[in-house]
Amino acid sequence: MTDGPRILVCDDEPGIRKTLSQILSDEGYTVDAVGLGQDALQHALSEDGQRPEAILLDVWLPDIDGLTVLDRLRGAGLGIPIVMISGHGTVDTAVQAVKRGADDFLEKPLSLERVLLTLDKVLERHRLAKERDALKRELLSRTGEDAARETLLGTGAAMRRLLDEIARAGASEARVLITGESGVGKELAARALHRASPRAAGPFVEVNGAAIPEELIESELFGHMKGSFTGAVEDRKGKWEQADGGTLFLDEIGDMSPRTQAKILRAIQDGRITRVGGARAFATDVRIVTATNRDLPAMIRAGTFREDLYFRLAVVPLVVPPLAERPEDVPLLVTHFAESLARRRGRRAKAFEPEALEALAKRRWPGNVRELQNLVERVLLMSPGPVVRAADLPPEDRPAGARAPSQGTSGEFGAYATLADAREAFEKRYLARVLADTKGNVSRAAERLGLDRTTLHRKMKALGLDGDRDPA
Ligand SMILES: Nc1ncnc2c1ncn2[C@@H]1O[C@H](COP(=O)(O)OP(=O)(O)OP(=O)(O)O)[C@@H](O)[C@H]1O
Ligand SMILES: [Mg+2]
Repeated sequence: MTDGPRILVCDDEPGIRKTLSQILSDEGYTVDAVGLGQDALQHALSEDGQRPEAILLDVWLPDIDGLTVLDRLRGAGLGIPIVMISGHGTVDTAVQAVKRGADDFLEKPLSLERVLLTLDKVLERHRLAKERDALKRELLSRTGEDAARETLLGTGAAMRRLLDEIARAGASEARVLITGESGVGKELAARALHRASPRAAGPFVEVNGAAIPEELIESELFGHMKGSFTGAVEDRKGKWEQADGGTLFLDEIGDMSPRTQAKILRAIQDGRITRVGGARAFATDVRIVTATNRDLPAMIRAGTFREDLYFRLAVVPLVVPPLAERPEDVPLLVTHFAESLARRRGRRAKAFEPEALEALAKRRWPGNVRELQNLVERVLLMSPGPVVRAADLPPEDRPAGARAPSQGTSGEFGAYATLADAREAFEKRYLARVLADTKGNVSRAAERLGLDRTTLHRKMKALGLDGDRDPA
């Protein structure tokens, strides 16, 4: 056995070198043994893969003394364990060495058992420390990423204005209605508002009006008492109560039914809520922030959204502009998503050449920032080189000649002229997403999608999804 950790032994006594080499090799270590401080330095700092993973270093050496060798190694940034060997009368020096960065020391005459135990201990300690550092780094980069994910990026005038409004509205207790197309960053804006508010230390609780079935939304919002309906097996706090002292974010408020709208209005007017099946109404201290990609004034005209509720909610209206209206933010967002994706995968970020960024800034982005994020993810997987060129970009989702989105009224749906257009665009994005998830592996993607390989290939070709390239 010679492929265990490489150990460097440095001692001027040939007998000790020989014994240590023997016993350490028997234990599976790979051993280099030298008799001069100079040689130890050379070995330890060599660049040719002969570097040791630990050093046993005599305090007394004929050329340079052990402490100096230790200082030089640490000075050169060598982080491996160093164990000092002290002769008679040099124990003091060994203790001093530990203070100066040695990991441990052994006294002569050497007990071979001690040598092995000590070596084992310092190597293990070192391995754990390295693991801990790696974990810490990963954790730090994750929290860094989380923080970034929570931040609305953008340096253009439109985004600066929005951030400014968020800061001002955040400081007040006013109810804020955030509007904007799908994927523009409404939820991020809501979280930013919460963070900018005096309630920042309190909870941020989200209820999505489009995601919860009508029969459950009342209990979701206001909670329920045990036995108030089938399935209510115990008392439960609603989101409104959970948000006490913080912010309640009612997302997709335009998707809430007239019945739910009435309940919300009542709760706002009374400043009190009642659990489903509960006898008692109680006060909560909640700031309400809402968001929608619907045109609420149009819904009011159509009789599907309550005007009185609208005025309660839109005390401060905030509009998150579509990405197409702030092309100046596109390069920053592209770079940000490319970097955070690379970090998540532990890879180096690919750069986008300026022409590619320009081309992206000119796109219409009906799905806004979310669409851009998906595109970056897909391009990074599919583009072959270390640099993403304009030619690597997939064509725009929206087929040429389709009607331009009708401004601000129909949100993401305005981008599609016909159902066929919408279906095609969705299919393309969905397939691209699954392909990205399977790292471009068509067989695995086909399995996930419930298609056979040939059908998927045909679809990819028809939709202009190039699956033949090797994922990066
Ligand atoms: N300005 C921005 N900077 C960084 N990331 C952003 C920005 N705007 C949006 N994002 C990211 O884009 C994605 C969509 O954002 P978000 O969910 O906030 O949009 P939304 O308007 O709530 O969308 P929807 O209408 O579909 O609910 C998220 O991953 C978000 O982190
Ligand atoms: Mg949202």
